[in-house]
Amino acid sequence: MKALCIISSPQESGNTAYITGKIIEGMEAAGIRAEKVCLGSMNIHYCRGCGICEKTRRCVQRDDMDTMIESMIAANIILIASPSYWGDITGQLKVFFDRSTPLCNAINGTTGIPEGKTGIAVAVRRGRSPGENMHIIESIEHYFGHLGIAPKGRYMIEGVGAIADIICRQEKIDEAYGLGLNILKS
Ligand SMILES: Cc1cc2nc3c(=O)[nH]c(=O)nc-3n(C[C@H](O)[C@H](O)[C@H](O)COP(=O)(O)O)c2cc1C
Repeated sequence: MKALCIISSPQESGNTAYITGKIIEGMEAAGIRAEKVCLGSMNIHYCRGCGICEKTRRCVQRDDMDTMIESMIAANIILIASPSYWGDITGQLKVFFDRSTPLCNAINGTTGIPEGKTGIAVAVRRGRSPGENMHIIESIEHYFGHLGIAPKGRYMIEGVGAIADIICRQEKIDEAYGLGLNILKS
């Protein structure tokens, strides 16, 4: 079993990466091999909106999106984690979603990756109310829906502006670990 864990924060060692790391620790304890990637360190260009991929199912641009698609095809589990930026997913994640259009089932009813993978959506924010994080979870699950990925895990944490805000929240750390540990049972 392989998991591809996509961190959409530009901060490779930020809060989103920290909490995703706890989910990964749980996955690894369950025997899942996890690959962690940070979109902020990748070279993924904007979608040009040319529509060519709707005929060819391949983007005309050659960049790190090619590797991402290969990793997605190989993974059994796809985790996508985003901090809230202006009440929404990060720009990096929006570009990644746009560039996934060749895989989208809205083109002809089929997806460009094998269906039936397990999806986990993760949202992190500094503010205290959960509504904004819920919007992020729904955006990620909307993406999963168009790729035939079954959403089986959700994780949200609020009130996190710095690592110091997370490391004292043992119950949320345990929840993250437990999500990774039990994802194959869900
Ligand atoms: C450009 C920017 C916009 C942000 N917008 C929001 C926001 O709208 N709501 C919120 O609760 N937090 C917002 N934050 C705070 C982040 O969501 C929060 O600090 C998060 O823990 C950052 O995660 P990271 O360390 O993985 O990047 C924003 C942070 C940045 C840099």
